[in-house]
Amino acid sequence: MDISKLDNKINPSGTMAISNKARELKKEGKPVIGFGAGEPDFASPDYVVDEVKIAADDPKNHKYSPVAGLESLRKEISRTTFEYSGVDITENHVVVSNGGKQAIVTALMSILDSGDEVIIPAPYWTTYPEAVKLAGGEPVFIKPDKKDNFKISVSDLEKAKNSKTKLLVWCSPSNPTGVVYSKEESEEIYNWVFENDIWILSDELYEHLVYEGKTSPSPGQYDKELKNTIIINGVSKAYAMTGWRVGWLVANSNVIGLAKKIQSQISSNVSNISQIAAETALKNGLDVTEEMKISFNRRRLYAIEKINEINNISVGNPTGAFYLFVDVSHYCNGNYEGINSSIDFCNWLLDKYFIAFVPGEVFGAPGYMRLSYALSDDELSEGLERLNKAVEELNG
Ligand SMILES: Cc1ncc(COP(=O)(O)O)c(C=O)c1O
Repeated sequence: MDISKLDNKINPSGTMAISNKARELKKEGKPVIGFGAGEPDFASPDYVVDEVKIAADDPKNHKYSPVAGLESLRKEISRTTFEYSGVDITENHVVVSNGGKQAIVTALMSILDSGDEVIIPAPYWTTYPEAVKLAGGEPVFIKPDKKDNFKISVSDLEKAKNSKTKLLVWCSPSNPTGVVYSKEESEEIYNWVFENDIWILSDELYEHLVYEGKTSPSPGQYDKELKNTIIINGVSKAYAMTGWRVGWLVANSNVIGLAKKIQSQISSNVSNISQIAAETALKNGLDVTEEMKISFNRRRLYAIEKINEINNISVGNPTGAFYLFVDVSHYCNGNYEGINSSIDFCNWLLDKYFIAFVPGEVFGAPGYMRLSYALSDDELSEGLERLNKAVEELNG
């Protein structure tokens, strides 16, 4: 019997292939160092875990709750959205979802009709194109240059736009490049979006993880009625809470109405316990984030320096998230050990040196690999030493 044609359209999460292989090698006892992690290597805050233990004992948390999320959490989200992103909203502008990921799919389902086009700047987070397709839309990629720090311009947008363009996906600080757009650069893009009256889906999961200068302003600051803007955020990255699965979307009442309908049929409320965990994290502020940032920044600077010392491999100076997007194209042209792509290069590094990176193909940018510096200082230094040795071997 046939299954849906979606099967030929949708790709599995691209970061999984290399992590699965790394896991298998680890099981075999190999000394694998993983640079693939998309999550902080820190534990969730103690006060979150303590609060959750109390919440688990309360029978009211064992029952269904409102689809859009607990009112107390949505109030806390409106407070922090105003405090950190400068966007003045109420709890009625929020739907809490099973992670930022579900919030993105729900938001796209709420906006797109079949055949609508969505502009996605590459390198992109691997979920965006698949989420667009799940929602019936067509991804259209724009590929900024490495020399422009992978930043898009209004002229790139002009070239990509046509009468079917419905939405721009925006992610700054970026996964996978770590690049952060300045206020001026962001404003240029936002003005273009508003003038052309398309939607902007602003993924702000990494807003707090910026090490130099300021984070990008949210488009919501310039679009007070949220006429064109949907904001995605969550607790995964800033509070080391990836496993709790709490994210949210912020939008105008039309979008929220449809998003609630969709979520009411797909998943209903997010686990009450996880929502209470998220609320506790938000109430306790950003001290834990600031502490993680000290380690992330130390590792970021170390990794940039070490990588740029390696023969014909290079990286810029990305100032956000916890990723570096490393140019390895020199070694992907068939002249070294039969390596013909960054997928080959990453597989070779994993098989031979037990270091796991995610190939650029997964993010729409062959010739690169993503390095997450969310791992211990010792592993980072040992892993980069192995990368150096690997490249020395390639150079004979
Ligand atoms: C750019 C970006 N947005 C959204 C998410 C979704 O995070 P979560 O579903 O854990 O909230 C991630 C996770 O990797 C991400 O990197």
